[in-house]
Amino acid sequence: MHYRLLGQTGIEVSIVAMGTWAIADSFTWGKQDEDDARAAIEVALEVGINFFDTAEGYGAGRSEELLGEALAPHRREVVIASKVSQHNLNRAAVREACEASLRRLQTDYIDLYQIHWASRETPLAETWEALAELKAAGKIRAIGVSNFGLQDLTEALAAGPVTSNQVPYNLLWRAIEHTIQPKCVAHGVGILAYSPLMQSLLTGKFASADEVPETRARTRLFSTARPHTRHGEAGQEAAAFAAIDAVRNISREVGASMAEVALAWVAHQPGVASVLAGARNPAQVRQNSAAAGLTLAPDVIEALNRATDPLKQALGPNPDMWLSESRYR
Ligand SMILES: NC(=O)c1ccc[n+]([C@@H]2O[C@H](COP(=O)([O-])OP(=O)(O)OC[C@H]3O[C@@H](n4cnc5c(N)ncnc54)[C@H](OP(=O)(O)O)[C@@H]3O)[C@@H](O)[C@H]2O)c1
Repeated sequence: MHYRLLGQTGIEVSIVAMGTWAIADSFTWGKQDEDDARAAIEVALEVGINFFDTAEGYGAGRSEELLGEALAPHRREVVIASKVSQHNLNRAAVREACEASLRRLQTDYIDLYQIHWASRETPLAETWEALAELKAAGKIRAIGVSNFGLQDLTEALAAGPVTSNQVPYNLLWRAIEHTIQPKCVAHGVGILAYSPLMQSLLTGKFASADEVPETRARTRLFSTARPHTRHGEAGQEAAAFAAIDAVRNISREVGASMAEVALAWVAHQPGVASVLAGARNPAQVRQNSAAAGLTLAPDVIEALNRATDPLKQALGPNPDMWLSESRYR
């Protein structure tokens, strides 16, 4: 495993982290065997993954509970990132949410505490003060944000040091490249790349859009005719699957799996501190962790960029994976 610094904190995190949304959200992902989830976390530790991302919102706290149980004996060796939900951003709610996360995680500190989505009701200054108090009390070590666009990021940078911005970033979802990534790089805000496998599409497990289960076909890649979409767009199914085919061919030439190539591509991009790969069982963790050691030659990165550029242009600068009217500001 290889490690990078998390923003300006001095905390070292594995280039490939383990994302733990899918182990606790059966609606989107299908039934999870919790023994598999526990075993996946054990294997993550074994292969050198020291960075785990969760949120109070994942499975109404179940993801934090599973992580807390598995990581309790290893607490000092790992870096835990959690998130406070959008509806919990007033002063009192932030404090309560943090205490509840600490209990579920069986710890007395969270390494990185992130605002999951910016509030449009509570002023950011109020939330930030509450977070700064938690930091001063030693309950959190660093403050991060998630799904912050330029305006929100500018406000946050004025409020205090912003360790990281957790945003969607993968070969099929490159919207942050337009303005958010350059801003993060300019200000030393670490990018934590979420959905780096585009929710499993980049593993190559689906040959066409029709094969993707409805609950997983919710993003703006898919036609608004899919029952769980919440946007009104025609979708980009043809362009997405053309890009997936190209990634498959390039991966073959590289001699690595699509998942490894897709994750390695994210890790090679400017400003990326860690790639938050979701995994539901030990085999997925092992394969994903291998991406940390895969160096892609400049011509391979260029070929991947070229293959996915038409999709990037078609989707435009809105980073919101689910809504046309972007919640990013
Ligand atoms: N801040 C936010 O708003 C936000 C939003 C989304 C995600 N996140 C974070 O980012 C993490 C990762 O994102 P994500 O879960 O959306 O998607 P992802 O990492 O792009 O995809 C993960 C899914 O792909 C499949 N998979 C993973 N590795 C595989 C492999 N090697 N071979 C085959 N299939 C594999 C698994 O599902 P199956 O086995 O079921 O196919 C897994 O659940 C989350 O867990 C969460 O921590 C944050």
